[in-house]
Amino acid sequence: MLTSSLEADWWRQAVVYQIYPRSFADANGDGIGDLKGITSRVDYLSELGVDAVWLSPFYPSALKDGGYDVADYRNVDPRIGTLDDFDEMMAALNKAGIKVIVDIVPNHTSNDHEWFKEALAAGKGSAARERYIFMDGKGPNKDQPPTDWESVFGGPAWSPSGQNDGQWYYHWFDSSQPDFNWNNEDVKADFLKTFRFWGDRGVSGFRIDVAHGCAKDMSGELPSYKELAEMTAKKLSNGNADLIHPIYDRDEVQDIYKTWRKIFNEYSPPLIAVAECWVAADRKHLYASPDTLGQAFSFDILLDQFDAAAYRKTIDFQLEGLKESGSSSTWVLSNHDVIRHATRYSLDMPVAESSDLQAHIPIYNMHLASGFTQPKTDPARGLRCARAATMMILGLPGSTYLYQGEELGLPEVANIPAAERQDPNFFRTEGRIIGRDGCRVPLPWNEKGIHHGFGEGKEPHLPMPEWWGKHAVDTALDRPDSTLNLYRRAMALRKDLQCGEALEWLDSPAEVLHYRRPNGWEVVLNAGESDYIIPEGRTVVLSSGVAVTDRVPPETTVWLTPSPSV
Ligand code: NOJ
Ligand code: CA
Repeated sequence: MLTSSLEADWWRQAVVYQIYPRSFADANGDGIGDLKGITSRVDYLSELGVDAVWLSPFYPSALKDGGYDVADYRNVDPRIGTLDDFDEMMAALNKAGIKVIVDIVPNHTSNDHEWFKEALAAGKGSAARERYIFMDGKGPNKDQPPTDWESVFGGPAWSPSGQNDGQWYYHWFDSSQPDFNWNNEDVKADFLKTFRFWGDRGVSGFRIDVAHGCAKDMSGELPSYKELAEMTAKKLSNGNADLIHPIYDRDEVQDIYKTWRKIFNEYSPPLIAVAECWVAADRKHLYASPDTLGQAFSFDILLDQFDAAAYRKTIDFQLEGLKESGSSSTWVLSNHDVIRHATRYSLDMPVAESSDLQAHIPIYNMHLASGFTQPKTDPARGLRCARAATMMILGLPGSTYLYQGEELGLPEVANIPAAERQDPNFFRTEGRIIGRDGCRVPLPWNEKGIHHGFGEGKEPHLPMPEWWGKHAVDTALDRPDSTLNLYRRAMALRKDLQCGEALEWLDSPAEVLHYRRPNGWEVVLNAGESDYIIPEGRTVVLSSGVAVTDRVPPETTVWLTPSPSV
């Protein structure tokens, strides 16, 4: 069946809403969000006006890393539901015109995956071990790890096989997440099967976890961790495109994605894929090419302060970088890995030091406990800036990825007791990095009532603070100026705004961003301290702050249409 280019290009300017299933809605009251919970909230998503949802992993998992430790790629965690529940959810979402994207974690499995268990049991030199990265330890007893490398979450990146055979396995993340060997044919074939499995069930595409990391070459002499970190830093800065790194952004990773693309294109419209790749701007097009994954996340705007000049630089840079692949941009301010932006913009501390960019995953370092658990915050400012920044990105060409709860203006929950924390980042750094649980607290649906409407049974799997109810959906719907009503209005208007993909900057003071889209609509963000007077001939159709007609107050974004001529 032929697909029209309009249908095939649905993703280019889509609004994709990220659901973290365990924290969205708990239909059976066991304290864990589930697929039936999502199905029960389809009307909410439809009224919000999103084009697609992206589901973080819902596969069987020991939850050592919030589900990014997958034990079976082609099933549903029994605590979250069944494949029938998945089909029912898909049907309900599709009926409401909402597409579904699922998360694929190809860099590593859970240590509960049957292949890893088989690998441990089969012993050194076996074909089963070839699917992962096993190496002999160092020293006469092989009781030292093969290298001194650290994992992204802190602590060593190698763990002993536990079989008294002198072997260690590599895990870039937690010790419960052994890395795959992507030179292995079984691994390659299995993922093709996984893509077909979900493609045949009707999903519209995939979000690819750690897309920069699958291809590795561990043969030959390996650098020290210090050398490795320096190589990573170079790799992440522009102009080092030729630098070869043993585990990071290797050219041959694209060969893997080219084989996936053939499968994606068997579907009509072709399945989409968006890469989570932390790579230099001059490498991003490789992941976003129509022959490979097709789209790549950009987190640059998320790392910016609320600053017009910084935003403009990022936007120009981002749009320029896309020319090579012809892909569309992705705009992201929050996700399940970062401090929610309503809190980030309120923090009286730098959001990301440039040196953080040299670490493997810069965003995790935003959760450094120092300065965050007891931050100087101004929540009202945080929310004002968050609303303004979101309205600014929603007007840009490209697709926007929203994270569940940001439409409620939810802040980060900073003070989760240590005993209730779940993030391996917290445990592996002895609490030095407090981790990402604060942005994963289950959603408040009702101001009052048991667990704020998240579920009616057991305690939610992460505790809700006592002030959670004031951010609930039901009260937000009643308040015309709520963040939820702002998002809903914006999404409805956006259907007209997203016409072509061009963007034209208009003259404005340095602390103001002012751009025009091809249909004449304009967006103005004021990050300055005084009002910005709107030039003649425009009508305000949306304001992220108070209602205005002729000016843009500080920390506010407005959308403008050309005034009808009289
Ligand atoms: C990126 C995911 O977004 C994050 O949540 C996860 O911990 C790592 N990849 C490892 O899978
Ligand atoms: Ca449940």
